[in-house]
Amino acid sequence: MSDFMFNRSTNVVRILLKEKLQNGDAVIDCTLGNGHDALYMKELIGQEGQLYGFDVQTAAIEKTSVKLADQGYDENIKLILDSHENVDLHVKEKVDVITFNFGYLPGGDKSIVTKSESSIKALEKCFYLLKDYGIIALIFYPGHEEGKKELMEMMAYLQNIDQKKFDIHHGRFINQANNPPEYMVIQKRTRS
Ligand SMILES: C[S@@+](CC[C@H](N)C(=O)[O-])C[C@H]1O[C@@H](n2cnc3c(N)ncnc32)[C@H](O)[C@@H]1O
Repeated sequence: MSDFMFNRSTNVVRILLKEKLQNGDAVIDCTLGNGHDALYMKELIGQEGQLYGFDVQTAAIEKTSVKLADQGYDENIKLILDSHENVDLHVKEKVDVITFNFGYLPGGDKSIVTKSESSIKALEKCFYLLKDYGIIALIFYPGHEEGKKELMEMMAYLQNIDQKKFDIHHGRFINQANNPPEYMVIQKRTRS
């Protein structure tokens, strides 16, 4: 038996990313933060795989850049200091996986948080940028009021997405205290 722990949304999402990604694939991390998700995906897609990353904070771009370099990753990486709602201005190819890890930069400025208005604009563009059967993984933090509001707003939007075009799954731990992080996974099921 492996030592996989089924106790956190991030762990569950990582299993799905591992299942989906292969050497040479292309991915976008729409919220780089400290670069953990970007490094995880780069490890899966390898030096040849193209990683695009977005964040509105210079600190996040720098931390991710250092984290990737420390592990020897220095090719096919584009880290962009811009809001993810401008993803289409920077990414000109279709990609296999896109991630959003909402909220604020841990250990950073807590006033700089993702907002559902711009996240929805970004998602609409990501729907187009995603390859057929590619996935978008979203992590939410409803443990605080702003995170709860963001989850509700994103849910209201995503519930109305055409089921003929996308399958949208919502996962949460129902017996953990204090509203732990939740996840959603969106898979593109038809050409659009
Ligand atoms: C929870 S952190 C991401 C964690 C990260 N994926 C990791 O592995 O460490 C959320 C990040 O989203 C960034 N962010 C907020 N609004 C954004 C926007 N409109 N576009 C891109 N990034 C944004 C914040 O600056 C913050 O670094």
